[in-house]
Amino acid sequence: MKVSIVGAGNVGSTTALFIANSGLADIVIVDILSDLAKAKAMDISHALSALDSDVTIQAADDYKEISGSDIVVITAGLARKPGMSREDLLKTNSDIVGQIVLKVKESAPDSIIVMVTNPLDSMAYMALGLSGFDAKKVIGMAGVLDSSRFTQILSENLNVKRSEIESTVLGSHGDLMVPLLSKTKAGGRELRDILKPEQIEDILEKTKKCGGQIVSLLKSGSAYYGPAASCFKMCKAILNDTKEIMCASVYLDGEYGLNDVCIGVPVRLGKKGVEEIIEVELSKDELADLQGAAQALKENNKCMKQTE
Ligand SMILES: NC(=O)c1ccc[n+]([C@@H]2O[C@H](COP(=O)([O-])OP(=O)(O)OC[C@H]3O[C@@H](n4cnc5c(N)ncnc54)[C@H](O)[C@@H]3O)[C@@H](O)[C@H]2O)c1
Repeated sequence: MKVSIVGAGNVGSTTALFIANSGLADIVIVDILSDLAKAKAMDISHALSALDSDVTIQAADDYKEISGSDIVVITAGLARKPGMSREDLLKTNSDIVGQIVLKVKESAPDSIIVMVTNPLDSMAYMALGLSGFDAKKVIGMAGVLDSSRFTQILSENLNVKRSEIESTVLGSHGDLMVPLLSKTKAGGRELRDILKPEQIEDILEKTKKCGGQIVSLLKSGSAYYGPAASCFKMCKAILNDTKEIMCASVYLDGEYGLNDVCIGVPVRLGKKGVEEIIEVELSKDELADLQGAAQALKENNKCMKQTE
């Protein structure tokens, strides 16, 4: 199996390392800074023997070398700087991602695109339109990360093991994420039975803001261990055809009453990509929040189309 990763920066190279460590697939790394891609591929190749991994890893100067990829992970683009919103990235990253998607369409037309670049939901929407790929084959990574962050913060606050927490985060990656309180349980108990409303609000706020907090602490760049692990989890589910359910940003065509937008919802991932979009029952408030997030994304997508 073969995974190509476009963007050899923090998220791309860490995803490559997770894949190499697991032995999941052979890896090709592409970056506009070709020496960076070469250095990362060479460095990770020196870890393979110590990791007892038999995969291969190489840097590519030419997109022809991504041909035959089962998955192309797109992590190329700018990361947020302190004080910068994901929306500020829209114009710059849509130019970068647009060019890359056209090359992926030409060289790896049968691949599944896993989009990582922010603003995530808009980049996934653009990649779907430009590639002309089946909607099952363009999948944005955000929900796995947001759910993982929510779980971690709940675990720290409740002193409950992560493995005993069930959490689901839908919606847009960013301030408009929609954590499903009705589906969140810790130690088998509903969150609302364990915490006061203001404590829940505080945890939700922390979940929304922790990405920005990492940006501020790092001073340059944004989070990458959590994002790369989430991306790896999705690649594993697709390549091993596990049919696992996780949240991802996918194109909706009537599900949840939404149309013509890529947004985070629970999906079943397998070798065809999105094998199923799961429609869970939402409370009135959760549905209103999801619809609000979709509306905001549609405005962004309109903006992106106008600047193309
Ligand atoms: N979806 C998520 O949950 C999530 C999480 C973290 C980061 N991100 C996003 O992922 C992207 C990458 O983050 P990072 O921390 O790895 O950034 P980074 O700056 O470390 O890496 C980005 C890489 O993209 C490369 N690049 C730029 N233009 C390119 C082009 N035209 N072709 C090929 N490569 C090109 C750069 O040279 C750089 O190496 C950012 O947009 C970031 O906001 C998303």
